[in-house]
Amino acid sequence: MTHIAGKNVLLTGASGGIGEYIARALAKQKANVICVARSQAALEKLVTEIEQAGGKAISIPFDISKVEELPSLVEQVTQTIGSVDIVINNAAIEKYRPFQDYSLDDIRSTLTTNLISGMELTRLLLPDMIGKGSGHVVNIASGSGKKGAPYNSVYSASKAGLIMWTDALRQELASSNVGVTVVCPGYTQAGMFLAFGLSAPKMARVSQPSDVANAILRAIEKNHGEVMLDGFLTKLLFSYIQLVPDFGDRLYRWIGLTKLNQTRAFNQMSGGK
Ligand SMILES: NC(=O)c1ccc[n+]([C@@H]2O[C@H](COP(=O)([O-])OP(=O)(O)OC[C@H]3O[C@@H](n4cnc5c(N)ncnc54)[C@H](OP(=O)(O)O)[C@@H]3O)[C@@H](O)[C@H]2O)c1
Repeated sequence: MTHIAGKNVLLTGASGGIGEYIARALAKQKANVICVARSQAALEKLVTEIEQAGGKAISIPFDISKVEELPSLVEQVTQTIGSVDIVINNAAIEKYRPFQDYSLDDIRSTLTTNLISGMELTRLLLPDMIGKGSGHVVNIASGSGKKGAPYNSVYSASKAGLIMWTDALRQELASSNVGVTVVCPGYTQAGMFLAFGLSAPKMARVSQPSDVANAILRAIEKNHGEVMLDGFLTKLLFSYIQLVPDFGDRLYRWIGLTKLNQTRAFNQMSGGK
């Protein structure tokens, strides 16, 4: 059981989307929230809001894709607020394309932001957590890491990588008193999904970002290894799809997910994004 109150929590991707909700929920539970993202103005606005509500937060504008510079982020945090107790690797990017239309830079930037930066940040923070005999690593993955999302294949690969890395790390740290959790949100009424600008496929549940944030806090407190946001039936369905991927392909076509993602890719490409 990890108590969140009084803990220093480093949260990447705090400037918008689900990250903002996680920051607010952490501050409400009396954590000291270290809000990291590139957009300085958005971070400062969030920190002001948290402080006005009586919480504690600081903002550190930082581009986590510059992985070689992550030691300076850790040093900045340590000097400003002290050692990190909990890290939440939440920042991510996604870009929809038929796979052959990605550039090498698209592949590299997605894997770096979504996977390598979280690994490197955790690698830098872990020795201190292990030494203290307490800490928690939370990686925000996605249902797309459980079943590949067509036209979002690089993002899916990054999230699958995050899930398996977390799974291995949890086993390595089993006797260390450092908790490790992967959270797999489904469609969430915030951030990337809203930017998507299209409705969810038929039968897909859309979660509220505050529910995702609360589930993350619960997972830290109870040291859950893996959390899937869309309930037990979705968990069963994803397990079955692992056994029979062709069934999953048909299901994704039937609920309209494949077509939706293709439309998203088309829209992004014609908008030049
Ligand atoms: N929304 C959904 O439906 C959904 C579903 C499944 C999983 N997820 C996962 O949930 C997490 C949050 O998603 P979201 O929807 O809130 O996304 P979002 O609104 O796009 O927010 C992503 C966050 O990451 C930050 N970020 C991106 N690149 C960065 C970089 N190089 N350095 C530092 N920060 C960076 C962004 O801030 P700046 O641009 O200011 O840097 C932003 O704060 C992600 O891991 C996502 O994969 C979301």
